[in-house]
Amino acid sequence: MPFTPDNELELLFPPSFISAEVKSQLHPDVHIRPLASTDHGRGHLAVLSVLTVATDLGEEAWVAQFNAMRTAPKTYYSLVIVDKKSDKIVGAGTLFIERKFLRGLGTVGHIEDIAVDKEQQGKKLGIRIIQALTHISESSGCYKTILNCSDANIPFYVKCGFEKKENEMAKYA
Ligand code: ACO
Repeated sequence: MPFTPDNELELLFPPSFISAEVKSQLHPDVHIRPLASTDHGRGHLAVLSVLTVATDLGEEAWVAQFNAMRTAPKTYYSLVIVDKKSDKIVGAGTLFIERKFLRGLGTVGHIEDIAVDKEQQGKKLGIRIIQALTHISESSGCYKTILNCSDANIPFYVKCGFEKKENEMAKYA
């Protein structure tokens, strides 16, 4: 099945937010766009499962989460890369924008849940996802863009232009 054009989808945010430069650098077999309300059926959770447990609670529950994100204005920017031939998702990532009282009511972009299908890793999809999310963060006025990652992924993020700063703390419930 050929990939579905952006204008036939209900998207999480306007497709114009995706950098034209990143689009032009992307491999011609794939397309980058905002997450769509029908992406549960395109393997979104299967791609995320390369990261961690991505339990499938069914399409209805997935769509409810999509809608909750869509109604929070200027906050959630999840995007996907789809294979043009199969219309399946092969990469995904999210930018979450946090509003602050400090830094003159500044905003910070948090990059989360970056995942590329195992078969497609090493083809520059990951770096394009990071560049597209960083572009949204910077063009939205965020004074910094941050993320947490494993030691093994540090070289990837250095290639994406990030530097190591401070430490991550976690407390799981
Ligand atoms: N160590 C060293 N270099 C790396 C690594 C690594 N682990 N991963 C990628 N690179 C390099 C590539 O060789 C490439 O270098 P080059 O420009 O000199 O050729 C450059 O980084 C860009 O690599 P991509 O091809 O864009 O990487 P890919 O598409 O494979 O995506 C990713 C990288 C996202 C880490 C992918 O491998 C993946 O999904 N891994 C499993 C899930 C994961 O760990 N996600 C990140 C979690 S952190 C977070 O979500 C904030």
